[in-house]
Amino acid sequence: AQAERGGFDHFMQKEIYEQPQAIRDTLGGRIDENGNVDIRAELTFSDRNVCDIDRVHIVACGTASYAGMVGKGLLEQLVRVPVEWDIASEYRYKGPIFTENTLVIVVSQSGETADTLAALREAQRNGARVLAITNVVGSSIAREADDVLYTWAGPEIAVASTKAYTSQLIAFYLIALHFARVRGALPQEQLRALAVQLRQLPEQAERLLAQAGKLREMARKIARHAHVFYIGRGLDYAVSLEGSLKLKEISYIHSEAYAAGELKHGTLALIEEGTPVIALATQRALFGKTLSNVKEVKARGAYVIGLRTEGNGELDSSVDDLLEIPDVHPLLTPPLSVVLLQLLAYYTAVLRGNDVDKPRNLAKSVTVE
Ligand code: G6P
Repeated sequence: AQAERGGFDHFMQKEIYEQPQAIRDTLGGRIDENGNVDIRAELTFSDRNVCDIDRVHIVACGTASYAGMVGKGLLEQLVRVPVEWDIASEYRYKGPIFTENTLVIVVSQSGETADTLAALREAQRNGARVLAITNVVGSSIAREADDVLYTWAGPEIAVASTKAYTSQLIAFYLIALHFARVRGALPQEQLRALAVQLRQLPEQAERLLAQAGKLREMARKIARHAHVFYIGRGLDYAVSLEGSLKLKEISYIHSEAYAAGELKHGTLALIEEGTPVIALATQRALFGKTLSNVKEVKARGAYVIGLRTEGNGELDSSVDDLLEIPDVHPLLTPPLSVVLLQLLAYYTAVLRGNDVDKPRNLAKSVTVE
């Protein structure tokens, strides 16, 4: 089994380390020689169809839904198209509202999740076009969707999803940049600059793995706590949700993610001396706002781990421990931030002696409702 895990202690750890490759493979061949994202060859969409889209629904379960939440931010900011985000088990029963040209994007690593498949069918029954982001060729969702953009993460064995999530984020960058270019939503140079930075992500993710030792030390500090909170704004909030899910599913520590600005509407009451708070502050435009939220939890005695981009020292005196990602464009921080949060969850679960790859009560693929 050790050999199957390629020398790693757990499949989850191996899959965390496979992320640079998964990102590279998912980008592979989808950026042309001029530096433009072009996924025309894989989709049945004409440019006219892309221009006609007047609303997007993003629907998924679990980790895939949190990738979808980042996707919503990307499509809104880069394509300026209105996006609704839903969990599949809610969407399928709520009577979703479709416009003339609604595009439904379903996200599923396995391509077999029952609620996501039902959501896809509901959308098609209503005449919507469905684009699937999935990791499994020939899966039910891949077969039934109108279009498929595959993630090339390779097989994911650990129940807690890692490389599938980062690959799903990459799929959303590709869709958003492609749509933005075809629709002329942003100047070409700006889109090309983002594509250039996308190509640097594998190498940047690789370098982040060197922080593993530091994360093991931080895990020691949170492993004995009963509650952990994650805060962030904008895309940082979406990544917080995934970081929090990772921690709770494998460490069994209760954790919650909050939009940082929402803290004072309730959660602040739960902060006691030593309560761990992981604060994501990578979004330049929102940095000052998040910093004041960090100060609020700090003043109530929280143990704060701050996550910021390189070179922004302004956070440092307000936190107890620091995590750092390269100073990339604010839209590109999620696939980097999440690697650190995955490692933190991983080491915390290991320290608690849990079955990391097979957490209690959970399944890799949920094919019943
Ligand atoms: C299960 C898995 C999660 C996954 C979710 C959706 O709960 O344990 O890791 O995110 O299903 O799975 P899918 O295959 O549709 O992405």
